Amino acid sequence: MKKTTLGFKKLKQQNERCVMVTAYDAPGARAAEAAGVDLILVGDSLGMTVLGYDTTTHVTTSDMIHHTRAVKRGAGNTFIVTDMPFLTAQGSDDRTLDAALRLMQEGGADAVKIEGAGTVFSKIRMLTEGGIPVCAHLGLTPQTVGVDGGYRVRGRTQAEKDKLMKEALEAEQAGAFMLVLECVTEKTAEEAARQLDIPVIGIGAGRCTDGQVLVYHDIIGQFNGKQAKFVKQYADAGQMIETALCSYAKEVRSGAFPETSHTFEPMENPESLYGGSK
Ligand code: KIV
Repeated sequence: MKKTTLGFKKLKQQNERCVMVTAYDAPGARAAEAAGVDLILVGDSLGMTVLGYDTTTHVTTSDMIHHTRAVKRGAGNTFIVTDMPFLTAQGSDDRTLDAALRLMQEGGADAVKIEGAGTVFSKIRMLTEGGIPVCAHLGLTPQTVGVDGGYRVRGRTQAEKDKLMKEALEAEQAGAFMLVLECVTEKTAEEAARQLDIPVIGIGAGRCTDGQVLVYHDIIGQFNGKQAKFVKQYADAGQMIETALCSYAKEVRSGAFPETSHTFEPMENPESLYGGSK
């Protein structure tokens, strides 16, 4: 059964870990739902994993809607969180409202995720009060790496830890139902999970959070870029796919494919298209 925001809080209260994974299309979403994950994130990592960009900044609201709809078709019984893309949670409230509304109404998202702190908290409050569940995202926030220190671990000094804790509490007070903490020291993330009532989901945030999120393509081994230390790869789908395609190309060129079993005869039962009896 599809979980609710209350259900995620209950998991935390019962000391049960929450499983989140990204997905960007129907087959990935179907696999995630079949695996029984608690929720799916249509992350703007879409930009790198699927669309071929080198950062998330090129991803648009229309891209997120398109892919959220596909995920929804693949996993109709799983709670879906969709990322608010670059700059849609900054600037005017109208811009934020419009993007969030489209992700919910056109995309079918159950909630949105917003990266960052500061002025972002008022956006979290506005959306939550309007009825849109919001997942906050602190620590390393890929949308702003250009201005806040690049891809590095956060919460290492006492000052950084204090700042992060303050922001985490502010996100909760603003109404966030969940917090993603990315690339944060284990101790800082542990403290956040202890102090907050909402579930704290870690990615590169150690072992003591209320749950984990990983990028689908990192899990299955189908990502081209450098692999971060916090990733655990559970399969080598990239290699498997390449091997399969090489075999296909070789067999087409040699004439080994198609074989007799792949061909149709004039007297054959037309129903045999999908492998029925001849
Ligand atoms: O876009 C994304 O995939 C994310 C996760 C890394 C948390 O934000």
